[in-house]
Amino acid sequence: MLSLSGLAVAGLALFSQVSATILQNGQVRETSFPDTRIDPSASSFRTYPANATEISYKGRWDSKHVSWWSAPGIKFGYTGRTVAISFGNLTSDGVLVGYRIGGLDWMFTNITAGATHLLVSPETPGSDQTGPINPWTFELRVTNWAYGVQIDAVHVATGEKLIKLPDFGRRIEVIGDSLASGMYTTYEGLSSFGYGLGAGLGNTEFAVTAYPGICAADQNCWDIPRGQSHQWFYTSDMSYRASVIHGENPEPWDFKKHPAADIVVINIGTNDNNEANNVSTEAYIDGLAKIIQGVHGKWPEAQVVVMSLWLGFYQSGNTYLPEAPQGWVNEIYEMVKWFNSDAYLSNPIVYDGVTKKTSKTCKKAKPFVHHFNTTGILQHNDIGPQWHPTDVGAIKVASHLQQFIRIKFDWDLYATGPEVFHETLYWNDQSGY
Ligand SMILES: *[C@@H]1O[C@H](CO)[C@@H](O)[C@H](O)[C@H]1NC(C)=O
Ligand SMILES: *[C@@H]1O[C@H](CO)[C@@H](O)[C@H](O)[C@H]1NC(C)=O
Ligand SMILES: *[C@@H]1O[C@H](CO)[C@@H](O)[C@H](O)[C@H]1NC(C)=O
Ligand SMILES: *[C@@H]1O[C@H](CO)[C@@H](O)[C@H](O)[C@H]1NC(C)=O
Ligand SMILES: *[C@@H]1O[C@H](CO)[C@@H](O)[C@H](O)[C@H]1NC(C)=O
Repeated sequence: MLSLSGLAVAGLALFSQVSATILQNGQVRETSFPDTRIDPSASSFRTYPANATEISYKGRWDSKHVSWWSAPGIKFGYTGRTVAISFGNLTSDGVLVGYRIGGLDWMFTNITAGATHLLVSPETPGSDQTGPINPWTFELRVTNWAYGVQIDAVHVATGEKLIKLPDFGRRIEVIGDSLASGMYTTYEGLSSFGYGLGAGLGNTEFAVTAYPGICAADQNCWDIPRGQSHQWFYTSDMSYRASVIHGENPEPWDFKKHPAADIVVINIGTNDNNEANNVSTEAYIDGLAKIIQGVHGKWPEAQVVVMSLWLGFYQSGNTYLPEAPQGWVNEIYEMVKWFNSDAYLSNPIVYDGVTKKTSKTCKKAKPFVHHFNTTGILQHNDIGPQWHPTDVGAIKVASHLQQFIRIKFDWDLYATGPEVFHETLYWNDQSGY
């Protein structure tokens, strides 16, 4: 879903200031993000270019090292107590990023296009800790789903070095719209259920290929010109920024160069289901099927989890009830059953959104599509006035998905301590009132 105010934000010019006030329940959240800009000529660094093999890129980044979609990031190991990053001029000026050492709390700063930012120094809390995570790790994530950064170079102190971190052994991708991308949560992508699922599972590589307003069907929704059944096959999202940087020629995502996801969670259709976008049931089901057939074609071993859709709630007499209809509940369930039928599995079809070819795979497929029933997870106060999960709502969706994945696929929950959702520490410090 996307409101008019969201569209206005998404339409801001690329090279203008992109900062907006962070609100919680309509009130301004107090933030004191440090200004981390430095003059790089005044420091002595060992510098690594953006294409250094020591730097791991998480989520989708293009050939110019520009980030796309929700919560993209970089991660590397380092020695010493200094990490600085120079950002290219294709950075959204002023964009808010979260960054952290090891599993400690996220810190935030606004990035200036073309500037160098000192993100770890001897004064940074935790920079003097020597374990238990070794080598010491640095991770950065972009918070907003429409803005991005361009990595130009990474610096450590003279005599120190970057260390390539091996990827975790399992990988998850979330395909969606504003709901998964974190629109209207306080730290946007870093408060989203898409990010929370991947980070919350722990020891898991994750990507959140989600963008507000986008439909499954390849048609214009809320002025987003292409649907996920097309755009998922590309590196960049549907932001105004993408049209400026890539114009008519977005880079197809190079599936051969990047490892396959083991599990793909799909939550899409709320925009298709909105009357304003005039998407027929046939067009939606065709779009969703193409996304699943695209995933199956690119990653034949991936398990796909299709989430049922939900809307908000309304007061009915002395309680609250879900808005209805919630969006093709039966059609989605029937589609999952169809993907698991002998008819489909003996003759599986895969789809490539770039070449547009629909073709048949030659080998028999095993069932790989699962249904995740969202009914009963969210209550009326888990959905904000703009019809999106609150921070708490996003945490609930992520937590339920984690348990579903743990039980269904026998994935252990490996995150047993690191911070996932920043500034969600609400508690009572008085014992009697
Ligand atoms: C940093 O970005 C956030 C989110 O857009 C904004 O609230 C804050 O005012 C910005 N701070 C500065 C110093 O630009
Ligand atoms: C990085 O890019 C430079 C300049 O294009 C090139 O010479 C170098 O080989 C690249 N390094 C890696 C590791 O790809
Ligand atoms: C961005 O940087 C590149 C290389 O550093 C330069 O060639 C280009 O002119 C710059 N573009 C803008 C808009 O400043
Ligand atoms: C909605 O879609 C139908 C079928 O594609 C078309 O005939 C109709 O003109 C569309 N309506 C609007 C308002 O775009
Ligand atoms: C989803 O869960 C609700 C609540 O338990 C239930 O009524 C509904 O039948 C379920 N849908 C499917 C397709 O299992």
